[in-house]
Formats: sequence, C-alpha cells, structure tokens
Amino acid sequence: MTTTPQHRQALCRRTVLAATAASAGTLALTACGDDGGSEGETAPGSGPIAALVDVPVGEAVAVTTPNGAEALLFRSDETTVAAFSAICTHAGCGVQPDGDRLHCPCHDSVFDAATGERLEGPADAPLPPIRVRIEDDQVIVE
Ligand code: FES
Repeated sequence: MTTTPQHRQALCRRTVLAATAASAGTLALTACGDDGGSEGETAPGSGPIAALVDVPVGEAVAVTTPNGAEALLFRSDETTVAAFSAICTHAGCGVQPDGDRLHCPCHDSVFDAATGERLEGPADAPLPPIRVRIEDDQVIVE
C-alpha cells in the first residue's frame, strides 16, 4: 500500500507530545516546531475533538481533528490525555484503537497508546503526536 496525498496531508509531522502537568486538569505540552516535513502537510487544526467523558481512562478512542484528520486519543488517568495521528508510519493505513494499544490492521504494527511508540510490527517510527489539552471537560487540539 502506498501513502496517498490525503494521508500525507493528514499527518502532523511536527514534534508534539502531550504529558501530564502537576496540576489537575491541565496538560504540559511541547510546541509544534518545524521539522522540515514535506510541503503540503498540515497541522491538525485547533479546537475540541472529544468530550473528556467520552474518553475512558485506560482506553484509546478514535476521533477526528478539527481539520478532518483521523486521530487517536488515550487517557492514561483522570488528567492525562495523549493524541496521535491515526496514519500508520509504515505505509499510511488507518491505525485503530485496541484497548491501551493502537493497532494497524494492514500489517499488524502495534503502538503504545500513551506514547505512540511502536511496540510490534513493520512500522519503524512512532505515531506523530498531536498537541492537546483538557479544558472545561473537553479535549482540545491546540
Ligand atoms: S501500514 Fe503497514 S503496519 Fe500499518
């Protein structure tokens, strides 16, 4: 399978990481930076992507970013949410939630839902993180 321009456009190759902040209800995040990615790639947009109540602790869920890209959310505890592109880094298939893991059905790559790191399969790169925060019981793409 090849990566289509739509898949490439959906990727946010900027380095972004959601992590827990010390205070409840907030997330510490690194900013998207220019990593020299290909032209035509876009950020995931900004705005709400899920109600916090719809993201159970310990389970990944599929969501759509404000710009229409497929993404995955994982809530590791009450105040920590991580988000990643759902486009597999192997060949561009759609990665799906699978409990506390993220699974690509095309060639069985498996990623850690909390970090996006590859755990199994042919993908050789982690899923690109998406910068998110919790605000007013919503998960927001920054
Ligand atoms: S596209 Fe091959 S493992 Fe995802």
